[in-house]
Amino acid sequence: MANNVKPHLSIGEKLKLIGLSLFVAPCMLAIVGAQVLLFAFRNNLNIRLYLLSAGVRVIFSTFTAREIQTLLPPTEDVYRAWIQRKARLTKDPALKERLQCDIKRLPDGNSSILWVGNRHKARKVVLYLHGGGYVMPSQAGHFECVWNTFVLSGLESDTEVTVAFLQYSLAPASKVPVQLRQAAFALSEILKAGFSAKDIVIGGDSAGGNLTMQTLKHLVEPHPEACHIALDEPLSAAVLVSPWLSTEYSSSSCLEYDSSDMLSRAVMRSLTADASIYEQQSDSDETNSWAKPLECRGAWLGKLHNAVRKIHMTVGGREILADQATSMAKAIEAMKTDVQVTVESDPNAAHDFIVAEGILEQVGEATIKMKQWFKGLL
Ligand SMILES: *[C@@H]1O[C@H](CO)[C@@H](O)[C@H](O)[C@H]1NC(C)=O
Ligand SMILES: *[C@@H]1O[C@H](CO)[C@@H](O)[C@H](O)[C@H]1NC(C)=O
Repeated sequence: MANNVKPHLSIGEKLKLIGLSLFVAPCMLAIVGAQVLLFAFRNNLNIRLYLLSAGVRVIFSTFTAREIQTLLPPTEDVYRAWIQRKARLTKDPALKERLQCDIKRLPDGNSSILWVGNRHKARKVVLYLHGGGYVMPSQAGHFECVWNTFVLSGLESDTEVTVAFLQYSLAPASKVPVQLRQAAFALSEILKAGFSAKDIVIGGDSAGGNLTMQTLKHLVEPHPEACHIALDEPLSAAVLVSPWLSTEYSSSSCLEYDSSDMLSRAVMRSLTADASIYEQQSDSDETNSWAKPLECRGAWLGKLHNAVRKIHMTVGGREILADQATSMAKAIEAMKTDVQVTVESDPNAAHDFIVAEGILEQVGEATIKMKQWFKGLL
């Protein structure tokens, strides 16, 4: 799906989708819900967050990418609805003023920056790349999350912060490196708007963490298809929440949490196929290795200090992707760059709980910890 256009389904596909929604998904939800509930109960975990996580797992494992995009509203609509609802519920005029739709189309015509906060007053900006396996539009929870963690942290620390939320094209209609091209346009737009690199943070959750790493790589080893960006100093920081950094799904966290996490290995394999175009080619293929920093711990990681000063990763101790973040941190540290790498793991969390908190409209542990980290940058 390139822009805000929904995929076109045939009559047969529509009937199948109705069947899946009315019969298969509810059954799956009952089964997976019960299984995850038991897991959460036994381990004394947050029931609401784990149930939500089970719901997302059912969506990913029941529907194809095109079906998901038919069922869910596109990112820009979600943004408009979130701004309207949030502004309606907010009484404080100082907050209300920061809740206005402000959309900047990017040069490719298929992506845009959805601004959250007041970009005119802002001294710091967070380029945010949302997750959803590259196939799911963003959720209201993503906006809630960036508002709570970044914009409000700024207000509480007397530093105006705005979030440049990227609406990018979704897979499988748009594959790697389309999203990188769009992220590069967004970063270039932010620099053109007058922000200096030291005031820019880049980050994202899940697939957004993947896109963040791709963008950092682009800064040190430009991708031929993305617009060139010359930084005069490194970006302030990168933040990766439950990042998806590899297409290897056999680590111990992958095996251990395969049936209790928001994502399963089967889901990851199908998302991988949706997002990449290189599956059939050999692993030595140069273009393939470009997007695989973990498998090919190539020289570029050693140049990371030219792109960014700090990398902060957060993972759930009970998620399948936990090992990927740890390996990435080790790979970066092994290169002995000046980049400060921190990994924070919450022993009770599964995948992407900060966004799950956003969806439930609660400021929970993940949000509070991220705010603490972010305020340290301001
Ligand atoms: C924008 O999306 C359309 C529809 O998928 C596609 O045909 C076009 O090539 C895209 N434009 C760019 C610049 O990528
Ligand atoms: C991002 O995801 C793609 C698609 O699955 C994968 O091939 C690649 O290794 C990942 N790249 C990074 C930078 O993590």
